[in-house]
Amino acid sequence: MRIFVADVIPEVGLEKLKAKFDVIVGGGEEIISRAELKDKISDVDAIVSTVNEPLDKDVIDAGKQLKVIACMAVGYNNVDVEHATRKGIMVTNTPGVLTDTTADLTWSLLMAISRRIVEGDSFIRAGKYKKWRPQMLLGSDIYGKTIGIIGFGRIGQQVAKRASGFDMKVLYYDVVPISPEIEKKYNATRVEIDTLLKESDYVTLHTLLTEETRHLINEQRLSLMKSKAYLINASRGPVVDEKALIKALQKKQIAGAALDVYENEPKLTPGLAELDNVVLLPHLGSATLETRNKMAEMAADNAIAALSGETPPNLVNRELSGK
Ligand code: GLV
Repeated sequence: MRIFVADVIPEVGLEKLKAKFDVIVGGGEEIISRAELKDKISDVDAIVSTVNEPLDKDVIDAGKQLKVIACMAVGYNNVDVEHATRKGIMVTNTPGVLTDTTADLTWSLLMAISRRIVEGDSFIRAGKYKKWRPQMLLGSDIYGKTIGIIGFGRIGQQVAKRASGFDMKVLYYDVVPISPEIEKKYNATRVEIDTLLKESDYVTLHTLLTEETRHLINEQRLSLMKSKAYLINASRGPVVDEKALIKALQKKQIAGAALDVYENEPKLTPGLAELDNVVLLPHLGSATLETRNKMAEMAADNAIAALSGETPPNLVNRELSGK
C-alpha cells in the first residue's frame, strides 16, 4: 500500500511508515497547490496531512483509493470530515500529546506581549539601549490579574493550571458543560462570553474552528474588552476577525494581541505586521522536538492501524470504528 506524507515529518514517524508501506514524502517551502495535492493523493491509500492541506470535498474525491486521512495535528478543520465519513474514509488526529506544549506557548505569547519582550529585543539590537530609564518599555503585570479562557478543553485547562502560579483569577467560557470537579481543580469560574471579555485582563483562545466559532471575536466583542487587556490566540486564525482586530489595535481600544495563527494563514491581513502592540508567531503551538516526535509517531500509528483493518486509536469519525 502507498502513503503520501504531505511534508517532511520527524524520522520516528517516517520510519514506522516506511517499514510497512511505500511512502512518498512531499515538502517544499510553499503550500502544495490543489492540483498537485489531487494528483499526489489520486493513487494512495493514506495521506499523513498537516494543517496546510485543504482536504475538502473536491480534493478528497481525487483520492480514488483513499482509506485514511491521518492528521498530524489535533485540529482537523482543514478536512471535510462529513464528506470523508460518507465515503468511508477514516480521519484521525493527534490529541493529548501537544496539550502542555501548546499551553506553554500560550503563556510565552502572554508574557511576551505583556512584558514587551520582542520590542525589548529589537530595541537592544537596534543599538538604542543607552542607559536604564525609569519609564523605558513599561509593560503590564501578570500576577494577580484576571485571565479569561475561551474554550476550556484540554489546552484551556492547562493554561488555567499555569495561571494559578501567577495567583490569577480564572474565568472561562465554553459551550461544552464542564464538571464542577474540573472547575474546582483549576479554580475556574464559568461566565458568559461577554462578561469574560469585559472582566479579563488577558483573553486566551483555545476553541476548535467551526461555523459557530468563526469570527467569535468580532468588532462588537472586541469593543467589550478593557483598554488595558490583551488578546492571545493559539487556536485557529478565523476565530478572530483579523480586520476588526487590526482596527481595535490601531485605535488602542485594547492594549495588544499575541497571535500564533492567522485568518488566512500563512498570509497576514495588511496592517497587522506594522503594529507595535502585537507579537506574531508562525503557528508554533506544538513546536517542540519532543512533541513533534510524538505527533509524528501518533499520526503514523493511526495510519498503520487504519490500513491494517483496525480501528485507529485517534479516530475522529467514530461512526467508522470497527468498519
Ligand atoms: C496545530 O495547530 C494542531 O491543531 O495540532
